[in-house]
Amino acid sequence: MLYLPGLLFVASFGFGHLAVASRGAGWKVLSRATDVQSTYDFVVIGGGTAGLTVADRLTEDGKTTVLVIEHGELLDSPLISTVQGGMQGFSSQLMYSINSVPQVNLRNHTIAVLAGKVVGGSSAVNAMMTVRGTAEDYDRWGSFFDNPSGWNWEGMLPYFKKALNFVPPNADVAEESDIRYNQSFWGNTSGVYTSWPSYQYPGTKAQIDAFKTMPGVDFVSDSGSGRPGVYWFPQFMDPKNVTRSYARTGHYDTIKRDNYQLVAGSKVLRIRLDGNVATGVEFLSARANSTESPVLVTARKEVILAAGAIHSPQVLQRSGVGPRKVLTAANITTVVDLAGVGQNFQDHPMVQMLVSFRNFTFTPSAQDLFTNASFRHWADQVWAANKTGPYSLATGNAAAWLPFPVISSRFAEIADKLAAQDPGTSLPPDTDKGVVAGYAAQLKSFAAAMRLNNTAFYNLGLTGGSSNGIIVDLHPLSRGSVNIDPEDPEGEPLVDYRALTNTVDIDVMTEIMRYTRQYYFNNTATAGWAPRELSPGPKIQSDGELAAYLADTLSPTEFHPAGTCAMMPKELGGVVDQELRVYGVSRLRVVDASIMPTLPGGNTCQTVYAIAEKVSVQQCYLCTSLGTRT
Ligand SMILES: Cc1cc2nc3c(=O)[nH]c(=O)nc-3n(C[C@H](O)[C@H](O)[C@H](O)COP(=O)(O)OP(=O)(O)OC[C@H]3O[C@@H](n4cnc5c(N)ncnc54)[C@H](O)[C@@H]3O)c2cc1C
Ligand SMILES: *[C@@H]1O[C@H](CO)[C@@H](O)[C@H](O)[C@H]1NC(C)=O
Ligand SMILES: *[C@@H]1O[C@H](CO)[C@@H](O)[C@H](O)[C@H]1NC(C)=O
Ligand SMILES: *[C@@H]1O[C@H](CO)[C@@H](O)[C@H](O)[C@H]1NC(C)=O
Ligand SMILES: *[C@@H]1O[C@H](CO)[C@@H](O)[C@H](O)[C@H]1NC(C)=O
Ligand SMILES: *[C@@H]1O[C@H](CO)[C@@H](O)[C@H](O)[C@H]1NC(C)=O
Ligand SMILES: *[C@@H]1O[C@H](CO)[C@@H](O)[C@H](O)[C@H]1NC(C)=O
Ligand SMILES: *[C@@H]1O[C@H](CO)[C@@H](O)[C@H](O)[C@H]1NC(C)=O
Ligand SMILES: *[C@@H]1O[C@H](CO)[C@@H](O)[C@H](O)[C@H]1NC(C)=O
Ligand SMILES: *[C@@H]1O[C@H](CO)[C@@H](O)[C@H](O)[C@H]1NC(C)=O
Ligand SMILES: *[C@@H]1O[C@H](CO)[C@@H](O)[C@H](O)[C@H]1NC(C)=O
Ligand SMILES: *[C@@H]1O[C@H](CO)[C@@H](O)[C@H](O)[C@H]1NC(C)=O
Repeated sequence: MLYLPGLLFVASFGFGHLAVASRGAGWKVLSRATDVQSTYDFVVIGGGTAGLTVADRLTEDGKTTVLVIEHGELLDSPLISTVQGGMQGFSSQLMYSINSVPQVNLRNHTIAVLAGKVVGGSSAVNAMMTVRGTAEDYDRWGSFFDNPSGWNWEGMLPYFKKALNFVPPNADVAEESDIRYNQSFWGNTSGVYTSWPSYQYPGTKAQIDAFKTMPGVDFVSDSGSGRPGVYWFPQFMDPKNVTRSYARTGHYDTIKRDNYQLVAGSKVLRIRLDGNVATGVEFLSARANSTESPVLVTARKEVILAAGAIHSPQVLQRSGVGPRKVLTAANITTVVDLAGVGQNFQDHPMVQMLVSFRNFTFTPSAQDLFTNASFRHWADQVWAANKTGPYSLATGNAAAWLPFPVISSRFAEIADKLAAQDPGTSLPPDTDKGVVAGYAAQLKSFAAAMRLNNTAFYNLGLTGGSSNGIIVDLHPLSRGSVNIDPEDPEGEPLVDYRALTNTVDIDVMTEIMRYTRQYYFNNTATAGWAPRELSPGPKIQSDGELAAYLADTLSPTEFHPAGTCAMMPKELGGVVDQELRVYGVSRLRVVDASIMPTLPGGNTCQTVYAIAEKVSVQQCYLCTSLGTRT
């Protein structure tokens, strides 16, 4: 069990025996660190979602040599491949073991920090929901620069299309559940697939339809349209064998090129800097004995850091690139004093509002797999025969993603409160001036977005069940940090969500809970379901009571860590420029969820793939003219 305050996730420990994959001839998985060549064109740190995507694209010419160094192993396991329920990958066998520091505003709870530690990274363990943010979320990224260069919706759309291979749903299922999609927002060339289950519970359509009576709600024609609303979205699944499609299956397994090598089970300790130039990477094989020293591998062109939002700032700080104060405390010599590294940490907070229906006539639901033997028998049979039926469903394919004015009549008052805030008061008192300035720019952008109907703040998943639960704040305003542990810089970093430190988050989440109540309890379409609120329960009504419920039960994470090596101007606390090059260091880029200056209003994996595709195109252009930034 992984414990999150208020939310229980049953992890499938012991579900299957993990087998370390072996490969035949022609594959370049290096089982021993000593098999590694001394020099490559590019060395990629982290064989996860972004790392494998970039490595695949950079080696497409058959000549450019790339080594990917991944801490986790190359594992074949049903925990990874199984689609059913979407959460088989939530296993401690596939993840880092990290707990946050105590969360002061969450009764000092510590929170499990989930991140994939396996070839494929978090794309190997995630819940498979394929979602994009709204157009405005990506326009915001460019808005922080005086001269934005393609970081907006128009600039991202080609790479969303390149990143995934969209396979439409079965026509009968689409018809029955009224699944809408529009292929003009998708591509069909990537090795990473997104597709649809061959079955939907009838209650899902009913729960979507019940939003039709709610004022101001749009029903957009495709999840990739960049607009908020209630919509269907696909899941990261290979439709041919009905298994997870992820960075490894799409960008590694089927690629046979001698110039693409991967060493698994190897932890990068630091980036080698010669002056301000990144020249290589030091790493240690998990199979190394205690007397072996780290291996140094040289990068002729660039080092690409793709260790994810939890570990990329840690690798930078260990290498001497980061806030001087943090480095000094850990007795690390500062090479580049870069205040933003590890700051601006964000994740989607979520809270549970459990509502059961005493008269939900849309059956069966997922619950019937446990309570109805004949339904279960049918599900077993169609799966065994054809890999169809309920077991082809991951976490669910429908949700509401709604703008703030649609969910809250208090939107203007709350936006005014945010606009009037002194940003510094929500950050630790010793925060760098540039980081504060960047935060101020973000808050200004969100105060504006709160008044508009083009940005989703509210998310409720619709899974067709007789009870529902998780609601998400898509644009949290609190900012945390991920810094090396001064006592143990080589160990796991100190992760501090600093949840609810910006008090406007409490206002927003309170409104989010109240709107969910409107949907269930002030709605002619749901009244006949005879809903009953189990948690927090009808007694919890006032601002203070709802705020206390948040403090008791909020999860500060939906497992979407981002922002810790932000793409922002340096004077706004940024870590990378618009080509994702680290300020003050040449031949070093960061490519992963850490570069997002602000979270998109949606699950993050699709956006990470698109970022990696976008920068790969830029990188090839730059292969001959590598820039140095100071
Ligand atoms: C449990 C869970 C559920 C999620 N559900 C969804 C979902 O349903 N839909 C969605 O869109 N998103 C989801 N996400 C988020 C999404 O998967 C991530 O945002 C995305 O995969 C992150 O990609 P990345 O490249 O930034 O990092 P990762 O894919 O995590 O890759 C980082 C890699 O670097 C490696 N690494 C780290 N440190 C080192 C080191 N020192 N040396 C060598 N290697 C190192 C790691 O082992 C890892 O393989 C979920 C995430 C999790 C954890
Ligand atoms: C949380 O921990 C802090 C620091 O240790 C302490 O000051 C505070 O009283 C604690 N709060 C609760 C609710 O336990
Ligand atoms: C699909 O979206 C495109 C815009 O990308 C639009 O021009 C087209 O009319 C849409 N098709 C349908 C069937 O709605
Ligand atoms: C892939 O997309 C292209 C362009 O949109 C289209 O012409 C082609 O028919 C598609 N192929 C498949 C197999 O869907
Ligand atoms: C946003 O939607 C709400 C609800 O439909 C509506 O009242 C409001 O006028 C809209 N605001 C804008 C700026 O369009
Ligand atoms: C499913 O098929 C893909 C190729 O389309 C392959 O990469 C993957 O390994 C297969 N999954 C399993 C579990 O066999
Ligand atoms: C550790 O590994 C090194 C290098 O492979 C080897 O020379 C040495 O004998 C090993 N030591 C032990 C104790 O196994
Ligand atoms: C700090 O590093 C120096 C040089 O590596 C070393 O001599 C010293 O013992 C270290 N101090 C601490 C407190 O670790
Ligand atoms: C159990 O499932 C079967 C097959 O789907 C269905 O016909 C039956 O009505 C269900 N029974 C109950 C009590 O829901
Ligand atoms: C499997 O699919 C085939 C072909 O569509 C169909 O004839 C058969 O009935 C299916 N098997 C089950 C158990 O549903
Ligand atoms: C119920 O909804 C209507 C219209 O959506 C609204 O005017 C009314 O204030 C709501 N009632 C309560 C008790 O919230
Ligand atoms: C239960 O649902 C049925 C079908 O929608 C409806 O006819 C009936 O009035 C509902 N019963 C209650 C108590 O709401």
